Amino acid sequence: MTLLGVNVDHVATLRNARGTGEPEPLQAALSARLGGADGIVCHLREDRRHINERDVRLLLETVHAGLQLELALADDIVKFALEVKPAEVMIVPERRQELTTEGGFDAIGGQAKLAAAIAAFREAGITVSVFVAPEMAQLEAAQKAGAETVELHTGPFSHARTAAEQDVELDKIETAAHRAWELGLEVHAGHGLNYGNIERLLKTVPVERVNIGHAIVSRALFTGFENAVRDMKALIAASS
Ligand code: PXP
Repeated sequence: MTLLGVNVDHVATLRNARGTGEPEPLQAALSARLGGADGIVCHLREDRRHINERDVRLLLETVHAGLQLELALADDIVKFALEVKPAEVMIVPERRQELTTEGGFDAIGGQAKLAAAIAAFREAGITVSVFVAPEMAQLEAAQKAGAETVELHTGPFSHARTAAEQDVELDKIETAAHRAWELGLEVHAGHGLNYGNIERLLKTVPVERVNIGHAIVSRALFTGFENAVRDMKALIAASS
């Protein structure tokens, strides 16, 4: 069955809006685990707009191997990750002005930097996933740089306005996933996935893992974190 990684960044977004210490991302992570989350994801951004170093350390102490740390290839962030050694990192591109990660990492243009970072992470025993657009050339470049896993960008699929548009995007994801499997890569998917589109995605492309944040955090406000995760797990179970 497809695994579920729950991204808790936006619990920190809410906390940081007031700086009072609540809500606590760690509490969300523990509740997500109780609800059946297979992993926890957090993104230490260069501008620290949500998750900070303290959060990462606390999450590492409590969810251990279940933490996937999302990061851009900024020197200080890479250095921090190599120091705290999460079991997994996910490499993403980052732009200061974006609301959230907007595009996939350019594994073609950034191949030398990517290969060097992957080598350092692997030497430290850290598994690496690279977030890429569902395009053949990107997958091939990520694999060539040493990635073991790719996360396919599902943003355009999630944000499609019509069924026809969604079909086109789903087709790209399906073709890319098959190519990634041929290349021996593990395939994850994420961005914009929600309670309304997860079944469609997984029935067509049974990826090994999906990472979901905003939709789960949003539902959790009204149902509690544990229930929000349980609801998503039920949809995943019904479709993969
Ligand atoms: N995967 C990646 C690489 C992301 O950057 C994000 C957003 O932080 C997600 C998955 C989760 O996206 P969403 O919050 O839209 O579910």
